[in-house]
Amino acid sequence: MRFLITAGPTREPIDPVRYIGNRSSGKMGAALAAAALKAGHETTVILGPVSVAFPKAARIVDVETAAEMLDAVLREFSRHDLLVMAAAVADYRPVAASAEKLARQGPRALELESTVDVVAAAGAIKRPDQRTLGFSLESIPDLDRVRGKMRQKNLDLIVYNPIATIASDSIRPSLLYPDGRLEAMPYGSKADFADMLIQRAVELFR
Ligand code: CTP
Repeated sequence: MRFLITAGPTREPIDPVRYIGNRSSGKMGAALAAAALKAGHETTVILGPVSVAFPKAARIVDVETAAEMLDAVLREFSRHDLLVMAAAVADYRPVAASAEKLARQGPRALELESTVDVVAAAGAIKRPDQRTLGFSLESIPDLDRVRGKMRQKNLDLIVYNPIATIASDSIRPSLLYPDGRLEAMPYGSKADFADMLIQRAVELFR
Protein backbone atom coordinates (compact mmCIF):
# COMPACT_ATOMS: atom_id res chain seq x y z
CA MET A 1 0.00 0.00 0.00
CA ARG A 2 0.98 3.62 -0.39
CA PHE A 3 1.18 5.53 2.91
CA LEU A 4 1.23 9.31 3.15
CA ILE A 5 2.47 10.32 6.60
CA THR A 6 2.75 13.88 7.91
CA ALA A 7 5.11 14.61 10.78
CA GLY A 8 6.71 17.31 12.89
CA PRO A 9 5.55 20.82 13.73
CA THR A 10 4.85 23.73 11.40
CA ARG A 11 6.37 27.19 11.78
CA GLU A 12 4.29 30.27 11.12
CA PRO A 13 6.46 33.32 10.40
CA ILE A 14 6.18 36.52 12.43
CA ASP A 15 9.11 38.19 10.64
CA PRO A 16 12.19 36.88 8.77
CA VAL A 17 13.76 35.48 11.96
CA ARG A 18 10.84 34.62 14.27
CA TYR A 19 7.98 32.19 14.12
CA ILE A 20 5.17 30.59 16.09
CA GLY A 21 5.89 26.90 16.57
CA ASN A 22 5.22 23.98 18.89
CA ARG A 23 7.11 21.25 20.73
CA SER A 24 6.45 18.39 18.30
CA SER A 25 9.67 16.38 17.84
CA GLY A 26 8.59 14.31 14.82
CA LYS A 27 9.45 11.10 16.73
CA MET A 28 5.99 9.59 16.25
CA GLY A 29 6.13 10.33 12.52
CA ALA A 30 9.62 8.83 12.22
CA ALA A 31 8.46 5.68 14.04
CA LEU A 32 5.40 5.44 11.74
CA ALA A 33 7.50 5.85 8.58
CA ALA A 34 9.91 3.14 9.80
CA ALA A 35 7.00 0.82 10.66
CA ALA A 36 5.25 1.36 7.31
CA LEU A 37 8.46 0.66 5.39
CA LYS A 38 9.20 -2.41 7.53
CA ALA A 39 5.75 -3.75 6.67
CA GLY A 40 6.56 -3.31 2.98
CA HIS A 41 4.52 -0.19 2.20
CA GLU A 42 5.60 2.62 -0.11
CA THR A 43 5.98 5.65 2.16
CA THR A 44 5.92 9.39 1.55
CA VAL A 45 6.51 11.75 4.48
CA ILE A 46 5.44 15.38 4.44
CA LEU A 47 7.78 16.74 7.04
CA GLY A 48 7.87 19.95 9.03
CA PRO A 49 11.15 21.21 10.53
CA VAL A 50 12.56 18.50 12.86
CA SER A 51 15.99 17.29 13.93
CA VAL A 52 15.06 13.61 14.36
CA ALA A 53 16.31 11.29 11.56
CA PHE A 54 13.86 9.74 9.11
CA PRO A 55 14.42 6.41 7.32
CA LYS A 56 16.34 6.81 4.05
CA ALA A 57 13.84 4.64 2.17
CA ALA A 58 11.01 7.12 2.73
CA ARG A 59 10.33 9.81 0.14
CA ILE A 60 10.50 13.09 2.07
CA VAL A 61 8.68 16.29 1.11
CA ASP A 62 9.95 19.14 3.30
CA VAL A 63 7.54 21.89 4.32
CA GLU A 64 7.65 24.69 6.84
CA THR A 65 4.24 26.32 7.28
CA ALA A 66 0.69 24.98 7.70
CA ALA A 67 -0.15 26.42 4.24
CA GLU A 68 2.77 24.49 2.68
CA MET A 69 1.68 21.33 4.48
CA LEU A 70 -1.87 21.77 3.15
CA ASP A 71 -0.58 22.24 -0.43
CA ALA A 72 1.69 19.19 -0.18
CA VAL A 73 -1.06 16.96 1.27
CA LEU A 74 -3.60 18.03 -1.36
CA ARG A 75 -1.02 17.44 -4.12
CA GLU A 76 0.06 14.00 -2.84
CA PHE A 77 -3.10 12.49 -1.35
CA SER A 78 -4.66 11.15 -4.59
CA ARG A 79 -1.55 9.01 -5.25
CA HIS A 80 -1.77 7.34 -1.83
CA ASP A 81 -4.16 4.88 -0.19
CA LEU A 82 -3.98 6.31 3.28
CA LEU A 83 -3.12 9.57 5.03
CA VAL A 84 -1.70 9.35 8.55
CA MET A 85 -1.81 12.89 9.92
CA ALA A 86 0.76 12.81 12.73
CA ALA A 87 1.99 16.39 12.17
CA ALA A 88 1.34 19.03 14.82
CA VAL A 89 -0.04 21.66 12.46
CA ALA A 90 -0.24 25.16 13.91
CA ASP A 91 -3.87 26.14 14.48
CA TYR A 92 -3.09 29.85 14.15
CA ARG A 93 -0.70 32.01 12.15
CA PRO A 94 0.08 35.73 12.15
CA VAL A 95 -2.33 37.54 9.81
CA ALA A 96 0.66 39.23 8.15
CA ALA A 97 4.34 38.36 8.52
CA SER A 98 6.56 41.44 8.68
CA ALA A 99 9.04 41.68 5.76
CA GLU A 100 11.55 43.34 8.09
CA LYS A 101 12.82 42.06 11.40
CA LEU A 102 10.65 43.66 14.08
CA ALA A 103 12.64 45.90 16.40
CA ARG A 104 12.04 45.85 20.11
CA GLN A 105 9.51 48.35 21.34
CA GLY A 106 6.94 48.45 24.12
CA PRO A 107 4.18 45.87 24.40
CA ARG A 108 3.02 44.38 21.09
CA ALA A 109 -0.06 42.42 20.11
CA LEU A 110 0.12 39.82 17.39
CA GLU A 111 -3.01 39.36 15.30
CA LEU A 112 -3.61 35.71 14.45
CA GLU A 113 -5.90 33.87 12.05
CA SER A 114 -6.87 30.19 11.88
CA THR A 115 -5.00 27.89 9.54
CA VAL A 116 -6.90 25.44 7.34
CA ASP A 117 -7.50 22.03 8.93
CA VAL A 118 -5.34 19.83 6.69
CA VAL A 119 -6.71 16.41 7.61
CA ALA A 120 -10.30 17.70 7.33
CA ALA A 121 -9.50 19.05 3.85
CA ALA A 122 -8.20 15.60 2.85
CA GLY A 123 -11.22 13.96 4.53
CA ALA A 124 -13.53 16.13 2.41
CA ILE A 125 -12.03 14.89 -0.88
CA LYS A 126 -11.23 11.28 0.00
CA ARG A 127 -12.39 8.57 -2.38
CA PRO A 128 -14.17 5.42 -1.15
CA ASP A 129 -10.88 3.53 -1.63
CA GLN A 130 -8.90 5.91 0.61
CA ARG A 131 -8.65 6.24 4.39
CA THR A 132 -7.62 9.09 6.70
CA LEU A 133 -6.24 8.74 10.19
CA GLY A 134 -5.73 11.55 12.69
CA PHE A 135 -4.35 12.17 16.13
CA SER A 136 -5.84 14.05 19.03
CA LEU A 137 -3.67 15.47 21.77
CA GLU A 138 -5.77 16.48 24.76
CA SER A 139 -4.72 18.10 28.02
CA ILE A 140 -8.04 17.14 29.65
CA PRO A 141 -9.21 13.56 28.95
CA ASP A 142 -12.51 13.91 27.08
CA LEU A 143 -13.39 11.10 24.68
CA ASP A 144 -16.55 12.85 23.47
CA ARG A 145 -14.39 15.72 22.27
CA VAL A 146 -12.12 13.22 20.48
CA ARG A 147 -15.15 11.58 18.82
CA GLY A 148 -16.35 15.04 17.76
CA LYS A 149 -13.01 15.68 16.04
CA MET A 150 -13.19 12.29 14.30
CA ARG A 151 -16.62 13.17 12.87
CA GLN A 152 -15.78 16.77 11.92
CA LYS A 153 -12.62 15.68 10.10
CA ASN A 154 -14.27 12.61 8.50
CA LEU A 155 -11.58 10.28 9.89
CA ASP A 156 -11.61 6.47 9.71
CA LEU A 157 -9.55 6.20 12.89
CA ILE A 158 -8.36 8.66 15.53
CA VAL A 159 -5.54 8.12 18.00
CA TYR A 160 -6.17 9.76 21.33
CA ASN A 161 -3.02 10.76 23.21
CA PRO A 162 -2.64 12.41 26.59
CA ILE A 163 -0.50 15.59 26.48
CA ALA A 164 2.53 13.79 28.08
CA THR A 165 3.15 12.15 24.67
CA ILE A 166 4.69 15.21 23.13
CA ALA A 167 8.51 14.90 22.72
CA SER A 168 8.44 11.69 24.79
CA ASP A 169 9.72 8.27 23.67
CA SER A 170 6.72 6.43 25.03
CA ILE A 171 3.01 6.66 24.52
CA ARG A 172 -0.24 5.44 26.10
CA PRO A 173 -2.77 5.87 23.32
CA SER A 174 -6.35 4.79 22.66
CA LEU A 175 -7.82 4.16 19.23
CA LEU A 176 -11.34 5.32 18.43
CA TYR A 177 -13.36 4.29 15.39
CA PRO A 178 -16.46 5.85 13.77
CA ASP A 179 -18.56 2.78 14.72
CA GLY A 180 -17.95 3.54 18.41
CA ARG A 181 -15.20 0.98 19.03
CA LEU A 182 -12.54 2.03 21.54
CA GLU A 183 -9.24 0.15 21.81
CA ALA A 184 -6.91 1.05 24.70
CA MET A 185 -3.34 0.28 23.65
CA PRO A 186 -0.65 -0.81 26.10
CA TYR A 187 1.88 1.73 27.44
CA GLY A 188 5.06 1.38 25.45
CA SER A 189 7.54 2.80 22.99
CA LYS A 190 6.49 4.88 20.00
CA ALA A 191 8.22 2.25 17.82
CA ASP A 192 6.04 -0.60 19.15
CA PHE A 193 2.92 1.54 18.90
CA ALA A 194 3.81 2.50 15.31
CA ASP A 195 3.93 -1.18 14.28
CA MET A 196 0.48 -1.76 15.81
CA LEU A 197 -0.98 1.38 14.24
CA ILE A 198 0.27 0.51 10.73
CA GLN A 199 -1.37 -2.91 11.17
CA ARG A 200 -4.68 -1.29 12.28
CA ALA A 201 -4.45 1.13 9.34
CA VAL A 202 -4.19 -1.76 6.88
CA GLU A 203 -7.19 -3.44 8.58
CA LEU A 204 -9.28 -0.34 7.76
CA PHE A 205 -9.38 -1.63 4.17
CA ARG A 206 -10.94 -5.01 5.06
N1 CTP B 1 -4.78 19.03 12.16
C1 CTP B 1 -4.71 19.39 10.83
N2 CTP B 1 -4.68 20.71 10.47
C2 CTP B 1 -4.72 21.67 11.42
C3 CTP B 1 -4.81 21.31 12.79
C4 CTP B 1 -4.84 19.97 13.13
O1 CTP B 1 -4.67 18.51 9.95
N3 CTP B 1 -4.68 22.95 11.03
C5 CTP B 1 -4.83 17.58 12.50
C6 CTP B 1 -3.70 17.08 13.35
O2 CTP B 1 -2.62 16.66 12.56
C7 CTP B 1 -4.34 15.90 14.08
C8 CTP B 1 -5.80 16.31 14.20
O3 CTP B 1 -6.00 17.35 13.24
O4 CTP B 1 -4.26 14.71 13.31
C9 CTP B 1 -6.22 16.82 15.55
O5 CTP B 1 -5.42 17.86 15.95
P1 CTP B 1 -5.65 18.59 17.36
O6 CTP B 1 -4.63 19.66 17.52
O7 CTP B 1 -5.83 17.59 18.48
O8 CTP B 1 -7.08 19.16 17.16
P2 CTP B 1 -7.65 20.49 16.66
O9 CTP B 1 -8.59 20.16 15.57
O10 CTP B 1 -6.56 21.46 16.35
O11 CTP B 1 -8.52 20.93 17.88
P3 CTP B 1 -8.14 21.67 19.28
O12 CTP B 1 -6.92 22.51 19.02
O13 CTP B 1 -9.36 22.46 19.56
O14 CTP B 1 -7.91 20.57 20.28
